[in-house]
Amino acid sequence: MTKKYYFANWKMYQTLPSINDFVQSYKKDRIFQAQIKDKIIGIAASDEHLYLLHQKLKKTSVLIGAQDCSQFAQGAYTGQSSMLSLAQVGVSFCLLGHSEVRRYAGQSEEQITLKFKLLLAANISPILCIGETLEQKEEGITLQILFEQLESILQILAGYQGDLPIFIAYEPVYAIGTGIIPVKKDLQEVFTFLQSMVLQLLVAKNIIFLYGGSVSDQTKAQFEDIHEISGFLIGKASINFQEFKKIVD
Ligand code: PGA
Repeated sequence: MTKKYYFANWKMYQTLPSINDFVQSYKKDRIFQAQIKDKIIGIAASDEHLYLLHQKLKKTSVLIGAQDCSQFAQGAYTGQSSMLSLAQVGVSFCLLGHSEVRRYAGQSEEQITLKFKLLLAANISPILCIGETLEQKEEGITLQILFEQLESILQILAGYQGDLPIFIAYEPVYAIGTGIIPVKKDLQEVFTFLQSMVLQLLVAKNIIFLYGGSVSDQTKAQFEDIHEISGFLIGKASINFQEFKKIVD
């Protein structure tokens, strides 16, 4: 049976008390913990919460991740977090190129590529987020946009000898936080395309596809027959433990 991955993207939603509630509810729920043995859960939290979360969850199987990182290894870069320090606080994966970071921090493909390389070197699994806007979808250029967002990353992966799991999360921008999910035919077309790109470049080893954008207990059934999807990146519906649990269950 292939593993299923459930990554919570807590964005900037959580506070110390709400994190405490989440962790307590998770730890108390022994039945849930036993039921999810074949599933992998990860939480991408804000930098200031990472150490605490790691301390609270280090005896569990939950992975801790960052939502972004610096393109530099170390030095005079005020306000940034290096992957070296993220690794020290227990981070084992990191989101990269999330559309909110691309938009609000003006992150370029070049910066994303630099970060990707550094993450591999620091032994942190990247979760590369790619996706088109509604305008691009309506223009019929979805696959072209995905190709542009993936091209330089796949070149790096073609020469990568390590065995870190590498995640590619398809997150259509118009689906994030809106309740809108692409129709099945469009989703299947995208994942078939992504799979073929990866296969052509002979970099299929350890590449895992995720879907993100309005995943919830109500919408999860819509992804069931898309076999390329091995898991989800979940925003709003991951903040509360009970809601998150319904998706994973
Ligand atoms: P959402 O966010 O589940 O709230 O749509 C997903 C994401 O941004 O990763």
